[in-house]
Amino acid sequence: MSKKLGFPEGFFWGAATAAYQVEGGIHNTDWAKAGRDGIVPEITDGPDHYNRYEEDFDLAKSLGHNAHRMGVEWARIEPEEGKFDEDAIEHYRKVLKALKKRGLEPFVTLWHFTLPQWMADKGGATSRHFPKYFARYCKFVVNELHDDCHRWATMNEPNVFASLGWLEGVWAPFKKRQLFKMLWVNNNLVKSHIAAYRAIKECDLVTEVGIVKQALFVHSDWKPWNKFAAWVMNWFWNHSFLWRIKNHLDSIGMNYYQHSHFGKQRTERQRNDMGWEIYPEGIYYCLLELKKYKKPMFVSEAGIADEKDVYRERYIKDLVYWMYRAIENGVPLKGYMYWSLTDNYEWAEGYEKRFGLIEIDYETKERKIRNSALAYKKICEENALIIDNHQS
Ligand code: FCB
Repeated sequence: MSKKLGFPEGFFWGAATAAYQVEGGIHNTDWAKAGRDGIVPEITDGPDHYNRYEEDFDLAKSLGHNAHRMGVEWARIEPEEGKFDEDAIEHYRKVLKALKKRGLEPFVTLWHFTLPQWMADKGGATSRHFPKYFARYCKFVVNELHDDCHRWATMNEPNVFASLGWLEGVWAPFKKRQLFKMLWVNNNLVKSHIAAYRAIKECDLVTEVGIVKQALFVHSDWKPWNKFAAWVMNWFWNHSFLWRIKNHLDSIGMNYYQHSHFGKQRTERQRNDMGWEIYPEGIYYCLLELKKYKKPMFVSEAGIADEKDVYRERYIKDLVYWMYRAIENGVPLKGYMYWSLTDNYEWAEGYEKRFGLIEIDYETKERKIRNSALAYKKICEENALIIDNHQS
């Protein structure tokens, strides 16, 4: 016996990408410099999405998607301080029109981790002037492109950016154990989001401005100190940022990848190619956790690094199942973007980790649809998940 779990009409199904990770050919950022300096793997032309976006959108369309999350690259648009590049904007205009032509609703993230080198040289996100530069850039882009996109996110995963950049030191700018700087950056990014939100709204555009926030499912065993630690972590990671921007926010994009358990965990799960435990039900608790903000929500990323494509189909189905349960419990969830449409540059891990619904041969640039993408296609086309009864 099987059961059909239907999603609300007009639900957005798609996949996500980020400019630096898929476009190739971006050399004037802090990450590109770190690549040249041998700190992280260097980017190449990678999937070459910059030149092959039409082919990629044809594939997304053929996979039943009706939406797509993408990014625009600050370093292309403002390669020098205050100098905006019309050709870069024109390129993204064409990209947005290519989405529209195929019936794919665009969701655009204005900043996804990488900084133009000139901004990094000024101190990047630690600079007191960062909010001003950031808001000016966001306002410029939305002003230029608002005819072709109505759903914007100012930035991607500010907490991840701050903690991997200033605590763990594995992402740009590679600073280790600088707790106070990390908190300062978080605070500066709160200001930057609000400044960008206001600047965009000043243009009096009817457009949605949200943020993309990573959520972590935090839980613990019964011990009081573990419960307390989990409470603090949950508050810090999931709420401290959102709480401060909640009055300058039209929607929330939530990314989900991991859970964090305090105390003894009974069983260890299978791990994906990133070494992260496969824990799909965590998405349900995260969605419920963010429900209190009463904003329209999107799962703007959730996916798995699985080169052999053995876990991906089950993982997607489980995620979708838990999204369904969250909607049943009143979460205003409007869409899901699988991370990622194609294999791409996974930051400090380089091109090795493969998240794509579509496999990329980096030599020939050939695209190959993975089997799991076809299972997801079924969900998108039916706007429903068909489950065997044992799953419920
Ligand atoms: C998220 C990032 C995205 C990608 C996935 C795996 O934290 O937003 O760019 O790297 O993780």
